[in-house]
Amino acid sequence: MKGRSVIITGVPGVGKTTVVNGALKRLENEGISYKTLNFGTFMFEVAQKEGIVADRDEMRKLDRDVQKRLQKLAAQEMAQQEGNVLIDTHASVKTPKGYLAGLPEWVLAELMPDTIVLVETDEDQILLRRLSDETRTRDREGSYAIGEHQQFNRAIAAAYSMMTGCTVRYITNADLLLDKAVEDMVSVLR
Ligand code: AP5
Repeated sequence: MKGRSVIITGVPGVGKTTVVNGALKRLENEGISYKTLNFGTFMFEVAQKEGIVADRDEMRKLDRDVQKRLQKLAAQEMAQQEGNVLIDTHASVKTPKGYLAGLPEWVLAELMPDTIVLVETDEDQILLRRLSDETRTRDREGSYAIGEHQQFNRAIAAAYSMMTGCTVRYITNADLLLDKAVEDMVSVLR
């Protein structure tokens, strides 16, 4: 049976996965569970099978139409999931040719979220987190560009809300205040 569908977004390195994992651990004690689906992983599995990328950070450099095809396949597969689902993805993806909507109409129609969460924090903090994460190939950009991306995400999330009737929630994941972000996420998912 279809349960709640919550979409978690945030610019790369803002810490959305960290916040979600903390929240799910707390909710477990209350008997509330969500199946976590990572949109990038669904796309990457197809892209890897097709031999068009070697790592997940290459996907945002693919031709726009290829990215859109992968998006559609990922959304269709995720829509089959039963129960409460939490989808870890991006409101928009920064490609060499500009911002690509992470949740265009054909993706939203499959997922029909109840809520879209934007995890955010100060641009300087995101920049430092990216620089200290050696496991990923992050785009090289400064605080100004990261701030612009966060602003664009707020604007496009408003459009997603108009299209689906979902609520939009901002959660701040500031340095030294991870607990507060986790508590806010728990209140959305509870
Ligand atoms: P994905 O794998 O989701 O990429 P990502 O956002 O870059 O992944 P994350 O691992 O970034 O970062 P995070 O924000 O979750 O941070 P984390 O918790 O690791 O997607 C990969 C690709 O898939 C995309 O690039 C795109 O090509 C594609 N894709 C996905 N969805 C798509 C869509 N809808 N349409 C089209 N393409 C799509 O934390 C980062 C660091 O910060 C860690 O070191 C952590 O310890 C630290 N940290 C976290 N919180 C705090 C805190 N409060 N204080 C201090 N440090 C903190």
